[in-house]
Amino acid sequence: MISLRRTVVKLRSKARKEIAGLARSGACLRLTLAATIALSATACRRDMFHQPYSRPLEKSDFFRDNEMGSRPLVAHTVARGHLDADSAFYRGKIGTNLVDAFPMAVTRETLERGRERFEIYCAPCHGRTGEGNGLIVQRGYPAPPSYHIDRLRNAPVGHFYDVMTQGYGVMYSYAQRVEPMDRWAIAAYIRVLQQSHNSTLADVPADQRAALERPK
Ligand code: HEC
Repeated sequence: MISLRRTVVKLRSKARKEIAGLARSGACLRLTLAATIALSATACRRDMFHQPYSRPLEKSDFFRDNEMGSRPLVAHTVARGHLDADSAFYRGKIGTNLVDAFPMAVTRETLERGRERFEIYCAPCHGRTGEGNGLIVQRGYPAPPSYHIDRLRNAPVGHFYDVMTQGYGVMYSYAQRVEPMDRWAIAAYIRVLQQSHNSTLADVPADQRAALERPK
């Protein structure tokens, strides 16, 4: 009887010790978990990404005299390379009138450059022939008008430059992506596309007509 009680007591104390041990290792586990979270949380701190900064001319208390984050623009000055005084070239307009003639010489190289830029920036919507059925439109973007409608055939060339510069309706501006000379090159290439849809045999140089009339 006595030996039985002893065994029970022994077993009980063993069990107690074990439970205590388990609890300790549980605490240890919790501690490890907390430490891991704390460590990974420090690894996720994004303060290199979120630094305080101000945009040029934005209101800020950095400069006391003008309450901006940068120095004010100096009156009556133009930054180097930003004169843009040639209104016909940089705006496609003189006053409010769209220019009707190219403000630079149009060469074969201009047209080839224009075709290349057009196929990159415009053809996805306007289609490679300017009919307004590019792939983006075929997938649901609003369809632009064809370049071959009378209104756009008769539009001054400054209109095409202006549309690229300012955007037009749902079409956004390309001023950030296509520099002025390339905008003119594209406008020249649009004229080529328009011409290609509205030509007769009489427009083909005489010595090349026979080649067109020859059956395939
Ligand atoms: C993301 C599609 C998209 C791209 C790319 C795009 N356009 Fe357009 N464009 C349009 C849409 C849509 C309209 C019609 C806008 C409206 O009427 O609201 C339009 C209209 C025009 C018009 C006609 C404006 C008028 O008088 O009706 C011209 C010209 C034009 N785009 C030229 C260009 C040129 C040049 C490029 C390349 C630099 C270009 N677009 C790139 C979608 C595009």
